[in-house]
Amino acid sequence: MLIKIRKSWELPESAATPEDVYLNRRQLMKGAAGAAIAGSVLPFAETALADTERAELTAPRNTAYTLDRALTPEDLNITYNNFYEFGSQKQISDAANRELKPRPWQIQIGGMVDNPMTLDVDDLIKKMTLEERLYRHRCVEAWSMTVPWVGFPLRKLVELASPTSSAKYVRMETFGDPKMASGIGSQPWYPWPYVEGVTMEEAMNDLPFMVVGAYGKVLANPMGAPIRLHLPWKYGFKSIKSIVKFDFVAERPRSYWEEISDGREYGFWANVNPEVPHPRWSQATERVLGTGEVVPTQLFNGYADVVGGLYTGITGENLYR
Ligand code: MTE
Repeated sequence: MLIKIRKSWELPESAATPEDVYLNRRQLMKGAAGAAIAGSVLPFAETALADTERAELTAPRNTAYTLDRALTPEDLNITYNNFYEFGSQKQISDAANRELKPRPWQIQIGGMVDNPMTLDVDDLIKKMTLEERLYRHRCVEAWSMTVPWVGFPLRKLVELASPTSSAKYVRMETFGDPKMASGIGSQPWYPWPYVEGVTMEEAMNDLPFMVVGAYGKVLANPMGAPIRLHLPWKYGFKSIKSIVKFDFVAERPRSYWEEISDGREYGFWANVNPEVPHPRWSQATERVLGTGEVVPTQLFNGYADVVGGLYTGITGENLYR
């Protein structure tokens, strides 16, 4: 497959948005000039917090990632969500804020690795150097948003685990405890827990981002607290939320939506491509949340120059399914 290499995601900061507004707001926040970085004690609460109460979590911005459109307002981002553990509608934020207890939170890292471990999410965060990245997010439902994430590259977690040469995929799992998410019990027909996966090559690329905060604060429950993945060149369902387990495996994992759609919709790769429609709608354009503007969708969501090289040798529609 011939992939056109372009730098459309890397537009000048001037084209980027009301970032000055965002920065002013952040500068008003206590201590915003400083960064919460590896080794510091992060002021996390024990339980779910309403947005206004969430602890500050800032980090230096990685300027390699700029946007071509405005940041989605935070209020919208934390109230318009896909998080099936709390229901199949977009308005799950009340349930997620009430039911999900993101701390304490144990994470298991295992499978084909030299350093298997079980550790608290805050201990994992302390091992990492946090940064802020402005990413575009493209849902398979043809809407998009932009988010100022705080987190660390997935690659750093892979390095910590030190996979053996037999490991070919990273399989990730969301919590499956019905006591923390009423939608699990009320929708027993779905294949809980939510599972996703990437190849080792994808995991080692620079883009996959382990998110622990957004908008200068600790990650909100509806967005997948306390830790989620974001893969900005793939449809949003690949970006698994509230992860409890990372398994390094030899076999390609079968993910939640693959299992549900049984090959009738997008599958393992799910790379954004305007030319490969969903069985029921076009992917040529997307609706930008917040503005309602409809804009053309870009191959790999505009990140082709960072990830396009991952797929040389893989041909055909399968890459986008
Ligand atoms: N992760 C879990 N565990 N459960 C989910 O239902 N939904 C996915 C993805 N990760 C989902 C999930 C989908 S379809 C999308 S579009 C994004 O999360 C939505 O992320 P957002 O709510 O932060 O926009």
